[in-house]
Amino acid sequence: MTDDKPAKSPPKARSKPQAGNKKEKKRNPSAKAPHLPNRRNTYIAFILILSAVIAGWKFYLGPKLSEPFSPQAAFNVETVGKPKIGGPFTLTDHNGRTVSDGDFRGRYMLVYFGYTFCPDVCPTALTVMSDALDLVGDKADKVAPIFITVDPERDTPEYLKAYVEHFHPRLLGLTGSPEQVAAAAKGYKVYYSKVGDGYDDGDYSMDHSSYTYLIGPDGEYVAAFGHKTDAEDMAKKLEKFL
Ligand code: NI
Repeated sequence: MTDDKPAKSPPKARSKPQAGNKKEKKRNPSAKAPHLPNRRNTYIAFILILSAVIAGWKFYLGPKLSEPFSPQAAFNVETVGKPKIGGPFTLTDHNGRTVSDGDFRGRYMLVYFGYTFCPDVCPTALTVMSDALDLVGDKADKVAPIFITVDPERDTPEYLKAYVEHFHPRLLGLTGSPEQVAAAAKGYKVYYSKVGDGYDDGDYSMDHSSYTYLIGPDGEYVAAFGHKTDAEDMAKKLEKFL
């Protein structure tokens, strides 16, 4: 998970006054010793209120901080029509051919942005996508499963070819110039960022948002699936359209 949700942690960590908090806790020993019934009730009430506040804060702010794009938020904001997700791209597939979004008109596209060095988030998402297509069966032929790398520096067509074959025989890996990848990601409102470059070993990872997008035969956005969608859920949703 390290690569997909760290957007929220660095700014928070920097702004936390750690030492100040510790001092305040020491100065307030009453919270630690709820001997009297009254004080205990107050303490319990305080904890309950605090929990509610934290839960509420996470509910309202959590998704905004951790996820650059939220389908729910997009739906709430858009009052007319569907979120503007998708759009044109020109990339190179894992066989070295130039591919554009227009090549997929007439079929659905299941699109996931990630990178092959991703430790677990991308493999999980691609496994869910592949399993869902298998569950749907023959109708899944109407769907083009597509993996677009956000790490074109390392994900060459050759590298992508070996990678996508692990997941599904029809999964198409797409890469391109940094500019081409950036343009594709922009259309899908995908966030990505290089992390850790500059270490001695030159190693780095990519932060990136993690949604699987269903695009219709007309090229219009249909749905987005988040982390918690399992293969059965995705298959059910796909079957509604196919
Ligand atoms: Ni990933």
